[in-house]
Order: sequence, then C-alpha cells, then structure tokens
Amino acid sequence: MYHSEPWVGSKAETTYENLLGQTEALLEPESDWLANLANTAAALYHTLPDLNWAGFYLHKRDELVLGPFQGKPACVRIPWGKGVCGTAAQRQETIVVPDVHLFPGHIACDEASRSEIVIPIIQDGDVRGVLDLDSPYKGRFSALDKVYLERLVDLLHKYVDWEVACGT
Ligand code: SME
Repeated sequence: MYHSEPWVGSKAETTYENLLGQTEALLEPESDWLANLANTAAALYHTLPDLNWAGFYLHKRDELVLGPFQGKPACVRIPWGKGVCGTAAQRQETIVVPDVHLFPGHIACDEASRSEIVIPIIQDGDVRGVLDLDSPYKGRFSALDKVYLERLVDLLHKYVDWEVACGT
C-alpha cells in the first residue's frame, strides 16, 4: 500500500489549492502552448509528493505523442487504445491504476513506476491528449487526486491552444 500517511485530507487539499493557484499564475501571462505545458508538468512534478513522472501526451493522428514532461525519458508514441494512456484517451475517462503490474497492457517506460493516474484532456468532445502521473508507490493516487487533476486539466483549456499543440 501507499506508504505516506500525511498525504491525505486537508494537507493534500491545501497543496492542490496552492498548486492550482500557482499554475494559473504561471500560465496567465503566457499564450505559448509549449511553455505552458512545460511549466505545468514542472509544477506538478515538484509540488506533488512521491512521483517519478509527470507529463503530457498529445493526440496526433491516431496515436498519442510525448509532450512536455518531468522524469526519465519516456516512450514517444502510444497507439490509440493501448496502455493506460491510450485506454484513458479512448474511453474519455480518468483511469487510476493502483498497481500497474495488474493493468493488462500497461506500458512500462520507467520500471520504478508502481501506480499511475491518467486524465484525458477533452475539449468540445475531442480528446486533445492526456495528463499522465506515475508513482514508485502502489496505491499512490486517490479520488482526491482525480478531482484536483481533472480541475487542473480544465484550467489548461484557457491557456493552451490545443489545435496548435496537436498540429490539427
Ligand atoms: N505507463 C503509460 C505509458 C507512459 S509512461 O508511464 C510515462 C501507459 O501504460 O500508457
């Protein structure tokens, strides 16, 4: 199970509220999609505890292509419907994986990863990409992470031109 007890309840909520505020402050003055996704990945990675990867895959043609991230180098292309990322994109719903070893078809980019959450980025019914967070601990991601990370993704629509980012 996930080892870190303090990351529950009000501490996590406070951290996420601060993260949302700080991220909006970073994004608000800038309209460049690459700069904004890069800073969002960095803010996530350096604010949330117990992550080993945080970043974006962008929907290009019929696959997901690696976007800005923090962590070890990762697989560049994920076919639609494959892995946790491609499955979340295809289903258009957030997927929380408490133990990646038990998710059929999980794509292991970093063998240290033990749990994962993937939030699809949906704009007007179109999947623009996914936000992907990995942890070296089993059971790291909770319903609270899901709520706040979905809010973070909603925030991005104001500051990222997805048509430019995805080359559509
Ligand atoms: N584990 C993902 C691949 C991306 S890496 O975690 C960065 C998946 O199964 O889709």
